[in-house]
Amino acid sequence: MLTTLAELPLKKQAGERVTVLTAYDYPTARLLDETGIDLLLVGDSLGMVVLGLPDTTGVTMEMMLHHIAAVRRGVKRAPIIGDLPFHSYDTPAQALANARLLMEAGADAVKLEGGVPFIPQISAILEAGIPFVGHIGMLPQSVVEEGGYKKKGKTPAQAEQLIADALALDAAGASAIVLESMVPEVATEITLQVKATTIGIGAGSGTDAQVLVTPDLIGSFPWFRPPFAKARADVAGEIQRAVKEWVEEVKAK
Ligand code: KIV
Repeated sequence: MLTTLAELPLKKQAGERVTVLTAYDYPTARLLDETGIDLLLVGDSLGMVVLGLPDTTGVTMEMMLHHIAAVRRGVKRAPIIGDLPFHSYDTPAQALANARLLMEAGADAVKLEGGVPFIPQISAILEAGIPFVGHIGMLPQSVVEEGGYKKKGKTPAQAEQLIADALALDAAGASAIVLESMVPEVATEITLQVKATTIGIGAGSGTDAQVLVTPDLIGSFPWFRPPFAKARADVAGEIQRAVKEWVEEVKAK
């Protein structure tokens, strides 16, 4: 079990897989921490799976701060990564100011989406001593611009760009890099080439760590689940079962 991000390189060297799950509230964060999940991510997937927004582009800094603070209250051990939301890191100064706010709310590291074009923002964050996690591949904050969620790394040019992005993040000093929805061979190649811990989601099994959106894993958001995520519980079904049982009991009296 991890207690700091500084332990990640040792895990990578030892070939020990790292587990990462999203959390957005106190009880879930506390349960995941107590269960032994290595790292928690307060992702901007918050927008869809908690707040009912169509995608992550409507998530604001205020929303992220509110949920990071709740997660912080539930966690004793696992390091917490907080997402910088859409358009909260357009310039290096804005990225640094907002990264500081996420850290003050309780994050141990911040994450933003993008590769080479965002190195000035990432350097500003890292130079201020804030641990950083990258995110490349399919970028949910670009869904409107790109017209949908599209797997990355299918062409040689895309694969080369992903590797260049990963190497740039690694050289800048990222502790870890999320590789989302990309061809598994590209994710494995990146994992071999970088010092940072790669965290895969929909990117095959060749990465150093795996992350899932917790509602996909526990079946608490039944209206959409990505094909690579297997629900291992039916929390939505259990809620409806318990509620129906109680309603019947109340009405029977
Ligand atoms: O917001 C999120 O939950 C994420 C994961 C999909 C990696 O960024």
